[in-house]
Amino acid sequence: MERTYLMVKPDGVERGLIGEIVGRFERKGLKLIAAKLMQVTPELAERHYAEHKGKVFYDRLITFITSGPVFAMVWEGDEAVAAARQLIGKTSGIEAAPGTIRGDYAIHTNYNLIHGSDSHDNALREIGIFFAEDELLDYEKVIQVWI
Ligand code: PPS
Repeated sequence: MERTYLMVKPDGVERGLIGEIVGRFERKGLKLIAAKLMQVTPELAERHYAEHKGKVFYDRLITFITSGPVFAMVWEGDEAVAAARQLIGKTSGIEAAPGTIRGDYAIHTNYNLIHGSDSHDNALREIGIFFAEDELLDYEKVIQVWI
């Protein structure tokens, strides 16, 4: 079992797409173990996007992710990082394939609705930034035996 950190960005919250986005991960068969609506502070944003510091889009990214509430989540499942990235689609909404979240709902690169961890190590790091250990629920789902 692997965990991944997913975050509906301010554009997704503003556009009322939280339910649509959460539903896609539920239907895929991943298990939600933590979620909260929250305001990302500049300090949290800088820790989260530390690897992009210095890139041309960095300031724009920090301004955007702190511009309104996000819906932060932790999902669990076999190869959860890769599975979630497949559902999310490419960074650019134009290049993202139809059927993916960005392919269906995004047309920008910066306003691209959702963040998903890009590796196992980054998932652990990002979960640690946004959630305390006691916010991650440990529970069984009967349906898991079918997926
Ligand atoms: S990179 O350079 O390949 O690592 O970049 P990428 O993985 O595609 O994107 C990293 C995050 O930066 C966001 N991004 C941008 N924001 C604003 N403007 C531009 N041009 C831009 N390009 C990339 C992108 O959405 C990624 O954010 P997250 O939250 O990780 O999806």
